Amino acid sequence: MRIGVLTGGGDAPGLNSAIRAVVRKAEKYGYEIIGIRRGWAGLLEMDTVKLEYENIRDIIHRGGTIIKTSRTNPKKSPNGVERACQNFKKLGLDALIAIGGDDTLSVAAALSEAGLNVVGIPKTIDHDVPETEFTIGFDTAVNMAMRLIENLQDTAESHERVFVVEIMGRHSGWIALYSGLAAGADLILIPEEPFSIKDVVDFVKRKIDKGQKSIVIVVAEGALIKDYKGPITKDTSVDEFGHVRLGGIGEFLAKEINKALNVETRSCAPAHTIRGGPPTALDRVISTRLGLAAVDLIREGKFGYMVALKAGKIVPVPLSEVVGKTKMVDKELYEEAKVFFD
Ligand code: F6P
Repeated sequence: MRIGVLTGGGDAPGLNSAIRAVVRKAEKYGYEIIGIRRGWAGLLEMDTVKLEYENIRDIIHRGGTIIKTSRTNPKKSPNGVERACQNFKKLGLDALIAIGGDDTLSVAAALSEAGLNVVGIPKTIDHDVPETEFTIGFDTAVNMAMRLIENLQDTAESHERVFVVEIMGRHSGWIALYSGLAAGADLILIPEEPFSIKDVVDFVKRKIDKGQKSIVIVVAEGALIKDYKGPITKDTSVDEFGHVRLGGIGEFLAKEINKALNVETRSCAPAHTIRGGPPTALDRVISTRLGLAAVDLIREGKFGYMVALKAGKIVPVPLSEVVGKTKMVDKELYEEAKVFFD
């Protein structure tokens, strides 16, 4: 049996742990693993590398992905899906493991519908893939963001300043909410609940009136301002999956607070820094379990599924139930957090 593995979309800590597990489990069954480099681009260009024990021996603790990644979408290039199917055959593959978020998994689902033997593994720091309680990289990104917020709390405290920290997460607020809660941020703003500038300014004023001089506000990059058309973006270009580059809301909000209250306000956007570095133990262990389970699904001949974490168990979920949906922060969870936003 010859199995291809690829990583698509934004990189995430834990990808290497999953790749390592795929290779080790495949070795046990005597299967061959072919790394497809740079996500779907590698399948379209037949850019591959054979993965063996030596390649993966020392990678469980390393961020990024040893087989590289890209945001290439075969559905957007001429005959892309057909070419991907032809190359799958030319490479002599029996099955393919696609590790990625909604974009990558949507291509996996299309290839599965076209008749290829595909299994998916959920990956994204954004944590917005439905039907799973775990996505590779989220836990590390949250921990990294938490530490950065804490660093800013120190300097905010010393200088008696307001800080607005902008945290990645695309159109969901999972990373912002989890890292902000863990760090004890004063206010957390997420896309799931649009806010008004006036409410934020009033919040800062209330805090200052009560005698608090350093205030840290966490804002998700995709957070929405009421009465504004869509999120703030870096430019108007879109990637092959139609996503705009988010970013700028932190700086915007800091300026508005300063303008309204004349208090020293700074903004900071850690951006991609939360997406790198060594994965946490949780990211290493669950990514490993997902990698092992993906190979077992292939052995069972069960294709068109994503391996998912549900109630502590790794279970298969049909790819068709996953793609095209975004898992947003639950309303109740955000409501719970509001007790800290007084
Ligand atoms: O999906 C992961 C993510 O880091 C998002 O949080 C962010 O909006 C986006 O990727 C950034 O994309 P890029 O790496 O292409 O700049």
